[in-house]
Amino acid sequence: MKAFKIAVLAGDGIGPEVMAEARRVLSVVEKKFALRLDFEEARVGGIAIDVDGRALPAETLRVCEEADAILFGSVGGPKWEGLPPNEQPERAALLPLRKHFGLFANLRPALCFPKLTHASPVKESIVAGGFDVLCVRELTGGLYFGQPKSIREEGGELVAVDTMVYRQGEIERIAHVAFKAAQGRRKLVTSIDKANVLENGVLWRRTVTEIAKQYPDVKLQHLYVDNAAMQLIRNPKGFDVVLAENLFGDILSDEMAMIAGSLGMLPSASLGLKETSTGRFGLFEPSGGTAPDIAGKGIANPIAQILSAAMMLRYALGEAAAADAIEAAVVRVIDQGLRTGDIWSEGCRRVGTCEMGEAVAAAI
Ligand code: IPM
Ligand code: MG
Repeated sequence: MKAFKIAVLAGDGIGPEVMAEARRVLSVVEKKFALRLDFEEARVGGIAIDVDGRALPAETLRVCEEADAILFGSVGGPKWEGLPPNEQPERAALLPLRKHFGLFANLRPALCFPKLTHASPVKESIVAGGFDVLCVRELTGGLYFGQPKSIREEGGELVAVDTMVYRQGEIERIAHVAFKAAQGRRKLVTSIDKANVLENGVLWRRTVTEIAKQYPDVKLQHLYVDNAAMQLIRNPKGFDVVLAENLFGDILSDEMAMIAGSLGMLPSASLGLKETSTGRFGLFEPSGGTAPDIAGKGIANPIAQILSAAMMLRYALGEAAAADAIEAAVVRVIDQGLRTGDIWSEGCRRVGTCEMGEAVAAAI
């Protein structure tokens, strides 16, 4: 029997509730696919600030280091919004985790299920039949981490500096991830940049064009980021894989999640450099946040967390069949008409977090 160690960082807000449902589904998967998943829980985010005095305690980092994968919930909330920016849970937990483990490849599927197009704020004629776009976002470079980075005084006023910097090798490795993903999909990569203004954009475009030559079966197109923001909402079905640097990918992946309808449905994977015998070490988390307004009420949609567990099985643990089974179970439950509040529509059965988790577990 194959055994894996999973670091479970549920975090704040709806994190613990939806994590419980992902665990429920995984325990069914363990039996069905003869796996053993050893879960070790650790504190992260606001709860860690309250208990341990910091968003990412050393003990949590140790648990992650000893694990084969990190299953992450979400961090942050109104309680910690008054802290200085660089002590806030999102910034003080997520960014160091990404940097520490070199999680450079962020995969964010924006999947609009054919049966859930009503949940999209975009006109039915544009999203009819649903769509499936994968955002491949570079996650450890660009403006997020470039140095110098500061607010300083200069000539009697404050001046803020962030630095956008990309090494060619950083662009190459994320481009490979995008082209490989496209090979298993509809074979189109749309690379995003601002090459009309930024030197980073010029190097990005040149490098991606070079890497594309190694993937003659994949079509490459380039879009400026401002134009991409328009084209994504005009015709999301025209996209397959969207490749973007850190900040552009942050913005466009939120836009795509909104066009797709429910943030509560979308998982993500942040994959690292470290290759294991079964895949890549990574952190797997829902795209939505902590949703403090509905936390503790048992009404949050657990599907994003459940699908994040599926991505973990696929990309880190090499258990594609188990991942397929979870994804198919989610589709079945949606087909059966079960809906949490965020995706509910007339004629469907409204269920809570637990009931949704139980239904997915039963459908495996
Ligand atoms: C995300 C978030 C983070 C980011 C924040 C919370 C630091 O918006 O994962 O998209 O900007 O990367
Ligand atoms: Mg974001």
